[in-house]
Amino acid sequence: MCGIVGYLGKNEKKEILLDGLEELEYRGYDSAGIAIIENKQLKNFKAVGRLKNLREKTKDYLSEGFGVSIGHTRWATHGKPTELNAHPHMGAYSFVVHNGIIENYQALKKELQSQGVTFLSQTDTETIVHLFEKNHKINNNAWASFQETIEKLEGAYATLLITEADEETIYFAKNGSPMLIGFKEDEVYFASSDTPIIGKATEVYYLEDGEFGYARHGKVYLFDANGQKTFTKQALATDKALAQKDGYRFFMEKEIYEQSSVMHDTIIGRVLDEKIDFEELNPELFNNISNIKICACGTSYHSALASSYLFERLSKIPCQIEIASEFRYKEPLLHDDTLFITISQSGETADTLEALKMAKRAGLKSLSICNVDNSSIVRESDAAVLTRAGIEKGVASTKAFATQTMVLWMLAIYVAQVKKSISKETLEKELLAMRQTPKALLVNNKLHHKMTRLSKRYLHGHGFFFIGRDLFFPLALEGALKLKEISYLHAEGYPSGEMKHGPIALADAELFTIALMPKSLHYDKIKSNVEELCARDVTLLAISPEPFDLADDFVQTSYSSHPMLEFFEMMVITQLLALEISVRLGNDVDMPRNLAKSVTVE
Ligand code: M6R
Repeated sequence: MCGIVGYLGKNEKKEILLDGLEELEYRGYDSAGIAIIENKQLKNFKAVGRLKNLREKTKDYLSEGFGVSIGHTRWATHGKPTELNAHPHMGAYSFVVHNGIIENYQALKKELQSQGVTFLSQTDTETIVHLFEKNHKINNNAWASFQETIEKLEGAYATLLITEADEETIYFAKNGSPMLIGFKEDEVYFASSDTPIIGKATEVYYLEDGEFGYARHGKVYLFDANGQKTFTKQALATDKALAQKDGYRFFMEKEIYEQSSVMHDTIIGRVLDEKIDFEELNPELFNNISNIKICACGTSYHSALASSYLFERLSKIPCQIEIASEFRYKEPLLHDDTLFITISQSGETADTLEALKMAKRAGLKSLSICNVDNSSIVRESDAAVLTRAGIEKGVASTKAFATQTMVLWMLAIYVAQVKKSISKETLEKELLAMRQTPKALLVNNKLHHKMTRLSKRYLHGHGFFFIGRDLFFPLALEGALKLKEISYLHAEGYPSGEMKHGPIALADAELFTIALMPKSLHYDKIKSNVEELCARDVTLLAISPEPFDLADDFVQTSYSSHPMLEFFEMMVITQLLALEISVRLGNDVDMPRNLAKSVTVE
């Protein structure tokens, strides 16, 4: 995530940038910064933490003449949330802001360092500005230098650059991260989404991947790989509330749709050609570790539970999962050969934080998997891996769960590499499936439409059972939790093989059963369990790549080559089902009753 804004014109620039960044704060708030060139003078301010800190720092500054300006609000991916790592990043006479991840930054950085360039930050972004200035030193042409710079970048980016070498111009490029250009007379705006410019610009152009160019004297010059191109502006929306949700009805819906793109961010630079790499982890963390214990709450607990199958199967390491609020008072026996992992979207969940402190007091090494850098849980842990999901606003967690599960899957492989417990063939198979995950998370309109139609048949009944085996049991738990959180209907997740040990007594036509039936993992076993339920006349919604005759309703999935791809595809289906049932019941999808996004009390 991260948010960027830019403005070229004669109006006061600081307020335009700060107001714009405020609209984008949902994309990240580890730090913020602005850079302005006016009267040939470059000015730059940065502050760590929320935007109000930057406001405070710039309160005596005004920029009232014609000029160019860029701003950024950061969601840390490379490097801690410090002022040095905050954008805009500077060279000797230029500034850059960037959203996305430059995948080849390490190679570029090494090359630049070998030529004597000094880097101030740990970010991937700083390479852009140094590369630009290196090119500029050679050809003394800012536009040519910018083009040469963009050609060298691999990965995802939306970037803006200003330079004293061409002080009336903003250079821009987009590939894989969002950016648009706003227009009003001779003013030009840039932003990551349209909310920052609603009420300011009147027309907009949404940049496509591979487009780049420059804005100068109120005009925008647009290019792609085929050269200069013409473009058509459109009228800018005027409804800010709708725009904040990118046109979706709810934040939860937007976040379900975002899962595919944030997953790119989660795996980028980590899923490499032949291995998993976490640059934030030192393999020594796993020295003398022969057990893993994971502690979490709610949805994060479900991702932990799914990972226990992966750690034991792939890393060949015993793995126990604990609900944090239970763990705290069970007087657990802890040994220092155990790595203690906590998982938390917010990083502030009181039960999880206290469990972590207990484990630390017992002398255990700790690792957190979290979506918020610098949160209490991250600060308390010996090491941390960020999930890079961006801010999640819907109280019912969706993209946080998806990215947590992905990080845990990658971590299982990473531990397997460290412990040399994985064969080359298995490793290749896992890496291949990981690279396909963003695709498996795409939501297509046909599927969403089907879930909307199906939802009308599931608004009553005396309860829901989500059932699955193995990895799909935690997914069943998560599907049931999503549904109960936003529909207020009773739903349970159960291992399908366990139904016959009691819950099957509830089976009748009013018991809605959502069966997760992956083809690549114990299909025949779960099929038998589902048949037993059908014999008791349950109303069955089967989700599977394999058609199932006994189902009342059937959603056919497309992946069957790897359990995790099936897992993620089915996860999206259960999320959409919960969403659409909640909508039909007229509930508040984003802020369901009795719940809070961050549970900081015991
Ligand atoms: O921030 P955390 O991941 O630590 O939060 C844990 C739970 O409170 C959270 O997952 C909760 O269950 C969500 N509302 C699930 O949608």
